[in-house]
Amino acid sequence: MHIKTAPMGWNSWNTFMSEINEKLILESADAMVEKGYRDAGYEYIVIDDCWSMKERDENGRLVPNPEKFPHGMKYVADYIHSKGLKFGMYSCAGILTCAGYPSSYGHEFIDAATFAEWGVDFLKYDFCYFPKNADGKQAYLTMSNALRTCGRDILFSACNWGCGESWNWMASVGAHMYRSTGDIYNAFESMKKIALSQIPHFNCSGPGCFNDIDMLTVGMYDKGALHRGDSPVQTDADYKTQFALWCMLSAPLMMGGDIRNTNDFCHELLTNRELISINQDPDARQPYDFSDLVDSRALCLFKVLSNNEFALGLFNLADKEATAKFFPTCVGFPNYSGAKLLMKDVFTGEEVTVKDYFMKTLPSHDCVVYKVKAVF
Ligand code: GLA
Repeated sequence: MHIKTAPMGWNSWNTFMSEINEKLILESADAMVEKGYRDAGYEYIVIDDCWSMKERDENGRLVPNPEKFPHGMKYVADYIHSKGLKFGMYSCAGILTCAGYPSSYGHEFIDAATFAEWGVDFLKYDFCYFPKNADGKQAYLTMSNALRTCGRDILFSACNWGCGESWNWMASVGAHMYRSTGDIYNAFESMKKIALSQIPHFNCSGPGCFNDIDMLTVGMYDKGALHRGDSPVQTDADYKTQFALWCMLSAPLMMGGDIRNTNDFCHELLTNRELISINQDPDARQPYDFSDLVDSRALCLFKVLSNNEFALGLFNLADKEATAKFFPTCVGFPNYSGAKLLMKDVFTGEEVTVKDYFMKTLPSHDCVVYKVKAVF
């Protein structure tokens, strides 16, 4: 199977962790459709860890917990498919999953066959309890092969948190996306650290295999267990900046909030068509980071799009107000080119034409993103 653009969907972990059940998953599938997420491009409903019994059955197969999933997984898959969506599940390369459930080490082929039977379209594959003397690359290649030969198209979402600089080899073992960092927390500093650590590695991300910088925390506010006691609850500006960054990087967009109850601000953000079109640009190019060329504290990213247009993102990741500066000459439009840049704000639709320079004062943690066309 070929993945042309970064996968988009929803994952149960960030908000619900072990508190998952059939009702939640079916309601989230309903919300995907009713709240317009499916039409905006979101496709996968993914059940993360804690869905199974603690033991395999007598045939060595994984068993869904009947209290959480009384009708089994095929029923859940059929429901999700009936909504025009795809179904994702979770296992792990080690002996146990991160939450201590049976995992796929030594069971890769039987588990892939089981997932295929249930109608699974996506497998997130974690890295906890991995035997010390075993080879991680081999383990991911083995599950990749099991999925590729199970008779069903199943997207392989590898999740080894970047161990062994996995951005350099996860594509080679057949993953379609790979988590490149440890877990995100519902805190601005966590989001910032993760994004900044990976910007240089997005040259290894694109059609076929995407760098996954973890599920979005957008809309979680104080819900879910991803919160660190001492960090402030994220604000609307924090979420805007996270979503805009993930879009500028063409990273997978896996929503992690309770999509049945997202507030208006986050709903509008998560379904922003202009930002999603930047994320889903068929070239999925790494943005050009020109922050060092301008005298400002902002992160300045310029993304070449496939239709000869561009996207510009100016991000204030600092804790106080900053003025971002933008000179077209820093992004390959020197004065002598004669170009004027028509810039459309993807949040407000406002247009501005820039010839020599542009300045924008950004509140702490806020950002601006423009779609850019050059005219002469
Ligand atoms: C790891 C992963 C998370 C989540 C949990 C589940 O920490 O990185 O994304 O899947 O395991 O236990």
